[in-house]
Amino acid sequence: MEVIEQEKLADAVLLYIRQFRRGRLVSYSSLITKFKTDYPTLKNALKLIKDWKYKIIENEKGVLFVKASDVLTATEIAYNLKTKNLGHIIHAYKTVKSTNDIASFLAESGEKEGTVIVAEEQTQGKGRLGRLWHSPPKAGIYLSIILKPSFTPDQAPGIAIMTALALANSLLSFCKAQIQIKWPNDVLINGKKIAGILTELSAEKKKINHIIVGVGININHKKEDFSNELKTTATSLRIINNKKSERIELLQLFLKNFEKEYLKYKKNGLVDSIKKIRKYSSLIGAPVKLDYGKKIIEGIAVDIDKTGALILEKDGKKIQVNSGEVTVVKNN
Ligand code: BTN
Repeated sequence: MEVIEQEKLADAVLLYIRQFRRGRLVSYSSLITKFKTDYPTLKNALKLIKDWKYKIIENEKGVLFVKASDVLTATEIAYNLKTKNLGHIIHAYKTVKSTNDIASFLAESGEKEGTVIVAEEQTQGKGRLGRLWHSPPKAGIYLSIILKPSFTPDQAPGIAIMTALALANSLLSFCKAQIQIKWPNDVLINGKKIAGILTELSAEKKKINHIIVGVGININHKKEDFSNELKTTATSLRIINNKKSERIELLQLFLKNFEKEYLKYKKNGLVDSIKKIRKYSSLIGAPVKLDYGKKIIEGIAVDIDKTGALILEKDGKKIQVNSGEVTVVKNN
């Protein structure tokens, strides 16, 4: 049997036996009949499933599915994914330079809105402002979503904070600590960064070609996985909870929440979500310094408006800012 045929059989057997969780053994004879195969070929398929790091138990009569593998393969992500469209096309890789770069290439080549690109590791994961996004193998979620909305380019910036909201809502089910959104692109837990968002827009004057939404989430990183510099500013779910989390569950929940927020955004912008965004905000009420690239403005962050812009108050005047790097000014 060719390797590809063996993999196909193993995949089909896996899909079948995992329905029978709750301690139900599936007999070899029933599998042989169902898949029109023989005992040695079936045994090979079961070995392959174990090689994929799924936990199954075999005895003389049959096989029992115990636990899924923590791999971000297209099959695993698609299994029980509860979205309408998002992630119905998945490109999953072991190692890539950057999922955002692959997503841009695919979007330009005609790939559809809602396509998801995911990798177990990135060698040159891109962060904002030309920084690198630390992406060690199998520790985090590194994913990019292709969007091709019909709204105009001026509505694109709000997508970042909308994504942050979907992330914050998803992380709620995974930890009890305080979750915050740091305008415009970061999600913090206990004041440290757990996830970052990099949106990249390709547009003409009045028309968006595509938006790539890149998301990095620190999940099973240990403290020592971070550089000394990052140790003081970054965290992971594992550090917070003192135990590992299932990446696949968080990924599926995030895709579901992202789709929900995106559908609302396409209808009404941030109108329906702004209250929650404000509630999660780590900046509202704080004295901040905004690095604009050319200018630095200091003021009090008083609001995030319905376009996703940060409102700063300085000398009694309100200033609306759409992008920039914000730090909270600590009073001694
Ligand atoms: C930031 O906070 O600076 C943004 C980080 C974004 C990282 C993600 S990981 C998946 C996607 N691919 C990339 O190269 N970057 C984003």
